[in-house]
Amino acid sequence: MQLSLTQPSSWILLLLVVTSLLLWKNVASVPMCAMRNARCFTFFEDTFELAGSLSHNISIEVSELFTDFYEALLKSADMILDVWESPLNDLVSELSTIKNVPDTIISKATDIKKKINAVQKGVNSLISSMLQNGDEEKKNPAWSRLPLLQSNNEDAHIRSLYGMISCLDNDFKKVDIYLNVLKCYMLKIDNC
Ligand SMILES: *[C@@H]1O[C@H](CO)[C@@H](O)[C@H](O)[C@H]1NC(C)=O
Repeated sequence: MQLSLTQPSSWILLLLVVTSLLLWKNVASVPMCAMRNARCFTFFEDTFELAGSLSHNISIEVSELFTDFYEALLKSADMILDVWESPLNDLVSELSTIKNVPDTIISKATDIKKKINAVQKGVNSLISSMLQNGDEEKKNPAWSRLPLLQSNNEDAHIRSLYGMISCLDNDFKKVDIYLNVLKCYMLKIDNC
């Protein structure tokens, strides 16, 4: 790799070299090398050895972090999709019990539910192909219907459906971001 002084890493390396040279100059009385494994290591070699080993370790850790981050995004999207499975069924059926709810709203909710099921299948297949433990059994929290969804009080019923749609909106904005960030990186799309 060519070093360019516009890269921060190059400055750090340069600083390290200059510091070592200065120290080297000032420690003329210190033994010229340290014996280890029957080999004489100069201060200069030692410093490079340490910096080299440390930067090698850091580069491994950074690529692990990168992979972990992918995995976390995909798993979070998957978790949100799974958690919504049962509540979405309830949402669709409850909407149709409310007076004056236009058919367009009910058919939109049904359509959303179908599309979410399709995304869920896609995410599941990405997980099994990309992640090592992708096939591990999931433990979804059990969904018990909100008491307000069962209430006969129509105002409370409407409020609870409204709250549910608002949560759905928040959660799916997250899924949208996670999956699109992943798509950009995995497919190496520029400017997205
Ligand atoms: C780099 O990692 C190896 C293996 O884990 C370790 O033995 C070594 O001490 C590390 N190097 C530094 C400079 O921390």
